[in-house]
Amino acid sequence: MTKKPKDNSVGPWAKEKLEALEQYLNFYTTVLKNQRHWLQSTIYVDAFAGPGLSRIRTKELFPDGPGLFDQDAESDIAEIEFLKGSPRIALEISNPFSSYIFVDRDPQRIAELNGLKVAYGATRNIFVREGDANAQIKEWLESRTDWKRHRAVVFLDPFGMQVPWSTVAALASTGVIEVIINFPLGMAIQRMLTKSGEIPPGWQISLNNFFGSGEWRELAYEKTDDLFGPIVSKVDDSGARLLEWYRGRLRDSFGHVSTARLIKNTRGNPLYYLIWAGPHPKGLDGAEHILSKGERI
Ligand SMILES: C[S@@+](CC[C@H](N)C(=O)[O-])C[C@H]1O[C@@H](n2cnc3c(N)ncnc32)[C@H](O)[C@@H]1O
Repeated sequence: MTKKPKDNSVGPWAKEKLEALEQYLNFYTTVLKNQRHWLQSTIYVDAFAGPGLSRIRTKELFPDGPGLFDQDAESDIAEIEFLKGSPRIALEISNPFSSYIFVDRDPQRIAELNGLKVAYGATRNIFVREGDANAQIKEWLESRTDWKRHRAVVFLDPFGMQVPWSTVAALASTGVIEVIINFPLGMAIQRMLTKSGEIPPGWQISLNNFFGSGEWRELAYEKTDDLFGPIVSKVDDSGARLLEWYRGRLRDSFGHVSTARLIKNTRGNPLYYLIWAGPHPKGLDGAEHILSKGERI
């Protein structure tokens, strides 16, 4: 239900997400740098890679173009800020991964990712895959059965609820992969959880797939009795309950899970949470340091 922006523009809050990603990837590859004797490869998978470069949306002072006597026009144009997307962030860290897999289903973004492959290909091992992230992850996981000497970080950053629990569980089952997940509580989940609890069948299916269980209903709604019989209503802390439940399930599947870092829009409305999950306590130390800095729900 969440639509992607038509142009390659992002809200200013994307900066916070990308800074956290950069810090964690730096931490991860620096720690693994000293394990080269047994480690065969480190892989970064950006399953919802997006464009290589985005324009940050800022308020337009001159929506119809600057007037003749608008002295500040030039400096306003200069204020347009570009932001490196997650693929570039990952490509530019000082201790690079052995290989990079970038997935997107949008052909225009694939063309831009292929541009990155040309630009960075001399020093980075890059694979660009067009298609659905879940299908591509499944194919990638099936292509490798022995994970012992490989390590990977998978960034799952869609616009909405495009990552079903089955994908998360498949990644966890390798026992060596870490994930950084965008949990789209404000952007998608809460929009589907109507006040009355009457949820269109298509949305119910999306919620079931996303959570991998129908238990979200018991967490988000309560049944009380009044004179006319039972009434269903949404609980005030539905967001906090669902978030903690999801984090608990990540912990059960991966072994460790970080604090969820809240990302808000410029009006202060919650958009999504960034959550790290992985099999190693050292990874948790690094992720916790970075992701516990944000605001709580
Ligand atoms: C939020 S953007 C990614 C932003 C990027 N991770 C960054 O931080 O720079 C989400 C991207 O996912 C892509 N996308 C949406 N649904 C997808 C799917 N099912 N499989 C693969 N890509 C998808 C969109 O085309 C878009 O480029």
